[in-house]
Amino acid sequence: SLQICQVVTSSVSSKLQSYLKTLRVTTKIDQVAGINYSLVAPLTATADSLDGQLKGEFYNVAQPSPAPFGPPALAFPPDHERMVYLGFSDYFFNTAGLVYQQAGVLHLTVMDDMIPKGSKFRLTTTFLGALIPQVAKMFPNMTVQLNIWASSPPHLTMLPTGLVFTPALETQAFAVLPNSSLAPLFVLHLVSCSQAWVNGDLSFLLPSHRLLLELKHSDVGPFSVSLRPLVRLQKGFPLPLPANVQLFNLVLQSHQNFLLFGADVHYS
Ligand SMILES: *[C@@H]1O[C@H](CO)[C@@H](O)[C@H](O)[C@H]1NC(C)=O
Ligand SMILES: *[C@@H]1O[C@H](CO)[C@@H](O)[C@H](O)[C@H]1NC(C)=O
Ligand SMILES: *[C@@H]1O[C@H](CO)[C@@H](O)[C@H](O)[C@H]1NC(C)=O
Repeated sequence: SLQICQVVTSSVSSKLQSYLKTLRVTTKIDQVAGINYSLVAPLTATADSLDGQLKGEFYNVAQPSPAPFGPPALAFPPDHERMVYLGFSDYFFNTAGLVYQQAGVLHLTVMDDMIPKGSKFRLTTTFLGALIPQVAKMFPNMTVQLNIWASSPPHLTMLPTGLVFTPALETQAFAVLPNSSLAPLFVLHLVSCSQAWVNGDLSFLLPSHRLLLELKHSDVGPFSVSLRPLVRLQKGFPLPLPANVQLFNLVLQSHQNFLLFGADVHYS
């Protein structure tokens, strides 16, 4: 059996590696980003397993440049009861956040007509006036426009206890004047911190969400923004699965800097 292993190992390293070298190692996602999934080390084969490490890095298709932070070392657990394991490093998500944020595409304009008619919350100076009286006084009966953008790359950290997601957003509020020009009201800095635990059955729990608001600039005089209470969501949602492959005995574990999926596979 030792000889069979050596045959397998050498055929893996020669045939499979040279085959993999001919494959494209980058793929374009959209106008902004591509993923570099080149092999970072030769495939390693043992008697009962085959391991490959792919780079998993987002890059800007217009100006590819290396990320200012390196990939973390991933310590895969030694047990392998399932047929396949796939680990996703937080580096993968954080290079995505960096590329999209630096390309300036993480922005959003919110106007009152985008809010459902029945909602009690309105983007109007009258509604905001309940919190900031000078807005209603200076700009009576007008709608409000919010320009929201990511002021720094959104950051995701994977830990043995779960996931922590911290996007930092900047919000510029404007009053929409009768002649449609925009009068600046204020700029808020908003730091959100979401924590999720991972259930072994492939669902995430979003147990806590914190929102921290800070007034960065005001064109309507000083006002106070309060620390919002903790919002608790107790909702699990399933992960999407690829078609035509049936996975069973699924496991999902959160580890230091990576998520590990394990499954047994059936092709149908
Ligand atoms: C992809 O990563 C490999 C290995 O680090 C590197 O040699 C190659 O230049 C990268 N390609 C792009 C398009 O970034
Ligand atoms: C506010 O403006 C709307 C339309 O722009 C108008 O119909 C309404 O009468 C105004 N309300 C007041 C109190 O001025
Ligand atoms: C719109 O109205 C405001 C105030 O009434 C005025 O200062 C501004 O110049 C006007 N803008 C345009 C483009 O007419």
